[in-house]
Amino acid sequence: MYNRKDFQRAASVIQSRSSLRPTIGLVLGSGLGKLADELLARVVIPYTDIPLWPVSTVEGHTGNLVIGELEGQVVAVQQGRAHFYEGYTMAEVTFPIRVMKELGIHTLLLTNAAGGVNTSYQVGDLMLLEDHINLPGMAGANPLMGPNDEALGLRFVGMSQAYDRRLRQRALEVAREHDIPLHSGVYFGLSGPFFETPAEIRMIRALGGDAVGMSTVNEVLVARHADMRVMACSGITNQTIDAVDTDMETNHEEVLEAGEIIVPRLITILKGLLSNFPI
Ligand code: HPA
Repeated sequence: MYNRKDFQRAASVIQSRSSLRPTIGLVLGSGLGKLADELLARVVIPYTDIPLWPVSTVEGHTGNLVIGELEGQVVAVQQGRAHFYEGYTMAEVTFPIRVMKELGIHTLLLTNAAGGVNTSYQVGDLMLLEDHINLPGMAGANPLMGPNDEALGLRFVGMSQAYDRRLRQRALEVAREHDIPLHSGVYFGLSGPFFETPAEIRMIRALGGDAVGMSTVNEVLVARHADMRVMACSGITNQTIDAVDTDMETNHEEVLEAGEIIVPRLITILKGLLSNFPI
């Protein structure tokens, strides 16, 4: 468990490296870190320079906090994130979100790579999270377990409006303007690191999941606990496999490859959003 002083100490190290004061935070998932190259006047802070900040061990996660300007907004961008399956605790996985809150960030834009469960989704499509199902979280593996610090947020957090409606509406408008395939759907959050069995994919579909992934929901819980506005967008990197006796197998390489199509689309959506702030 961390306390507020830990978050503040990390925030003050970050603030000593840049005079910019970000109000919008971005988290870039697997293979999506290139988006940070778009920032102007950027300062790159390796995660290893920030006290207690978790470092991802996964390929495709660069491991820098980048502060700079994008479309006239000062943003802090996480180039890569730590995951529960890497062995980090829930408190460690969500530590950066708490630090972002201490930096003065009020709006969080999260991205991730996800498998398509909805059969109408194609590789390279984007899916805006309109809701999620947090299976490990419902079973007790979530970052809000344990004593609650009222200075950080409420004991019981409502989740019926986790994904900000106005941000989603604007993202959909930007996608329409640029002919980008952007679905709205339900993200099914799992711990990983294994990809799902065909029976699990059929279960996820039956339960209402449109895309499946191994991140994001814990960060969303903590961000909502901290009363931040949240938007999250999945890049569909692969079709999930829902039948046995196939020669196909999901792998991390295809996840990273699809990032090539997804990154420019995500950049367009995020820039379109930022250029319209405040939304
Ligand atoms: N399953 C879980 N997580 C993922 C997938 C998947 O198929 N693709 C990218 N992240």
